[in-house]
Amino acid sequence: MDTPQYQSYFLTNPYFSAVIKQNPIYQNQNYFKTMCGIVAYIGSKQAYPILIKGLQRLEYRGYDSAGVALLNGNLNVYKKKGKVSELLSFAHDKDVSATLGIGHTRWATHGKPDDINAHPHLSGNGRLVLVHNGIIENYATLKTALQRLGHEFISETDTEVLVHLIEELQERENLLLEEAVRIALSKVHGAYAIVVIDKEDPTKIVAARKQSPLVLGIGNGEFLLASDATPIVEHTKRVVYLNDGEIVTARRDGSFEIKTINNEIQAPFIQKLDLTIEALEKGGYDYFMLKEIHEQPQTIADAMRGRINATEGWVRLGGMEEHLNRIMNADRLIIVACGTSWHAGLVAEYLFEELARLPVEVEYASEFRYRNPVITEKDVVIAISQSGETADTLAAIELAKERGALIYGIVNAVGSSIARLTDGGSYIHAGPEIGVASTKAFTGQVTLLTLMALEIGYKRGKIRKSEFQRLLTELEQIPSKVEEVLKINKAVEYISSEIKDSNNALYLGRGYNFPVALEGALKLKEISYIHAEGYPAAEMKHGPIALIDENMPCVIVCTNQSAYEKIVSNIQEVKARKGVVIAIVTEGDTVIKNLADYTLEIPDTAEPLTPLLSVIPLQLLSYHIAVMRNCNVDQPRNLAKSVTVE
Ligand code: AGP
Ligand code: GLU
Repeated sequence: MDTPQYQSYFLTNPYFSAVIKQNPIYQNQNYFKTMCGIVAYIGSKQAYPILIKGLQRLEYRGYDSAGVALLNGNLNVYKKKGKVSELLSFAHDKDVSATLGIGHTRWATHGKPDDINAHPHLSGNGRLVLVHNGIIENYATLKTALQRLGHEFISETDTEVLVHLIEELQERENLLLEEAVRIALSKVHGAYAIVVIDKEDPTKIVAARKQSPLVLGIGNGEFLLASDATPIVEHTKRVVYLNDGEIVTARRDGSFEIKTINNEIQAPFIQKLDLTIEALEKGGYDYFMLKEIHEQPQTIADAMRGRINATEGWVRLGGMEEHLNRIMNADRLIIVACGTSWHAGLVAEYLFEELARLPVEVEYASEFRYRNPVITEKDVVIAISQSGETADTLAAIELAKERGALIYGIVNAVGSSIARLTDGGSYIHAGPEIGVASTKAFTGQVTLLTLMALEIGYKRGKIRKSEFQRLLTELEQIPSKVEEVLKINKAVEYISSEIKDSNNALYLGRGYNFPVALEGALKLKEISYIHAEGYPAAEMKHGPIALIDENMPCVIVCTNQSAYEKIVSNIQEVKARKGVVIAIVTEGDTVIKNLADYTLEIPDTAEPLTPLLSVIPLQLLSYHIAVMRNCNVDQPRNLAKSVTVE
């Protein structure tokens, strides 16, 4: 999709406009409660390698356990606590031949992460096997009822109850599998994406969804099902995104049928995927995070492509056009986001206030949604999200929408829930971000928000033409300057080796670099498990200074043109307490070089654009430290890429 804005696409796309208008789940605050990755295959190829590769692509959704069920006359179920790699070693000497199979990577909600609670789950008679993403809210009542009928349960999961319920219906009523699934689902409350197969009938797969994503891939004489399109893309580009309440039966003979829970046949809306395999691979880098850091010259350029022209002096965000008046005349911009996206929002606060003279509030989506905030129809809410699936951000949007605000999305994942729910928006076009620690999405978001602030500021008459053009020219040079910054990688690696054994770190910055300090600290925490705090540099003297001694590395981002002397004083204050100073400075800086223990130089740019450069050394620093500490850079413990729980 090369239109820079997505709103028009979704409005003109019958599938999405129908989903937005008709689907009550988009008004439901509990939308998308859990994660988990599902993949399934039926066709003539060997299923196991397809399932494993697919599960690895879906590991961002959770990695508490992984499992597969393979049907080749026998039904073989292999499942293991931990990552897909554990499952692989467990199954290496097992029979994995089959042309029909289902797989799962779990993010536990009911029952601890162990081998028994791992999916797939079998029915009591061992005939049916099922994987599930979601929560069966009334599982306890159903479980008691089934126990009275003689069912025995092995795991603590809600999922196992569902497969027993399907079995009960299939056996008692002598139903076709798809019919047993349909009736079982009509008795279930909660959220699910499920795939189920029957040992007695290797000719089909039955799958269904409600409030958890599920995509059907239609290949040549084969079908795949998965939680997102990444396991599907190398097999086929033809997909159907299932709607809520739909059940699909995909058959080995190449036919498939979609029905609703109410037993109405649905005409499938087949779409063509716009996703390449190359975009999903590591491309020679050790980790996705490192690859994604190095992609930034390209991704920043992609975020700007077709949207800016410094020579002619214009910025144009297609998605903003139809809402321009409302945004320009807003009383207030409220930015809602989580984590790194929230940090991008903080940068935007400086940008919008300075360049567009619009008041901005930046809110943690999770706080905003429960605070009964004051929102009016004159407010514009900007929702920022890489994944477009973050539950708290979705709920914040729903709340603001109810209260009449216009919602504008800055999103990376095309077709995601947030992209669909907002009134308008712009994609950042960073491509899939696989590393759990966000890097290229942050710079993509900041680039987009800079474009927005510039367009609005200029059109509101708050920036002079000469200044506007100067900033545009600087912005166009950012991708090549990011390339320059990446050349200090070796120096960053050296500094990393010096501070890698620290237990704590302080990140300081002022103005535009304050959110960058927060982001640097978050990166270090997430992937190296070193405790780190980000602070506005001047705020240090109100508390954190008490922590400083010779064991405390202080990463100070001091590329500021304004308040330069002030930050120099902050460095002096740290040095006076024997803190170790790692300073990010502008090329040619000599004053700070003489004060700091280590300096990293980045090219000069206009002050509002500095975050796009100053964040890069901090990303690299956290990366190298994590590698040196033997941490799993791409899949840090306890985290998941898309946080679809609140
Ligand atoms: C970033 O490194 C984190 N993993 C996390 O804070 C993330 O930014 C946050 O969960 C928000 O995600 P989103 O942008 O997909 O909404
Ligand atoms: N509720 C199921 C379990 O705990 C599925 C979890 C999920 O989708 O995150 O196993």
